[in-house]
Amino acid sequence: MKNIIVLVSGGGTNLQALIDAQNNGKIPNGKISCVISSNPNAYALERAQKHHIETSVIRRKDYENQLSYDKALVELLKTKQADLIVLAGFMTILGEYVIQSFKNQIINIHPSLIPSFCGEGFYGLRVHEEALQRGVKVTGATAHFVNEVCDGGPIILQKAVEIQQGDTPQILQKRVMEQAEWQILPQAVALFCDGKIIVRSDNTTEIQY
Ligand code: GRF
Repeated sequence: MKNIIVLVSGGGTNLQALIDAQNNGKIPNGKISCVISSNPNAYALERAQKHHIETSVIRRKDYENQLSYDKALVELLKTKQADLIVLAGFMTILGEYVIQSFKNQIINIHPSLIPSFCGEGFYGLRVHEEALQRGVKVTGATAHFVNEVCDGGPIILQKAVEIQQGDTPQILQKRVMEQAEWQILPQAVALFCDGKIIVRSDNTTEIQY
């Protein structure tokens, strides 16, 4: 059984999708054992508590620099015996020390089809604003491993979502969450826990269905 730690900062709808998947038996080889928030007021913490999942808060501003924060976070994750770390709307930048300590063990969900509309500064509504501005007809979400390049790690799963007439960034954000993020994040986590994701040396993955 893989020990899953979910890192959050906000509303936690992706965390909820993971909890629901777990409760519905869709992550048979994993267990969410702890939710760590960068924000003590995140609603995601309440979602975790409602389901009797342990919670913890660690704030970047309580540390002098990136490395001291990274070391504290790695220690916390090791104490909790993390096998898999899921970034579910986690808004604090992770430094190299964290990424290297958990190579190919950190999964992020990004609200576009990488490599479009991703990289530094592409988070929240901006992703959907830019997609609409560019006039793409299809967008979506990507579950990927985290490496040193922002949104540049090996892609695990992607799901496309169609743009519709009259879409606003807010409407599109909601559709991408419902139709893509909440589906592929639990799927990617289940695949990881089943040991079905092979990471190749060329920064791609092979899924063994
Ligand atoms: C999602 O859009 C996710 O793709 C991004 O941050 C948002 C988090 O939303 N990384 P929530 O906290 O899971 O509701």
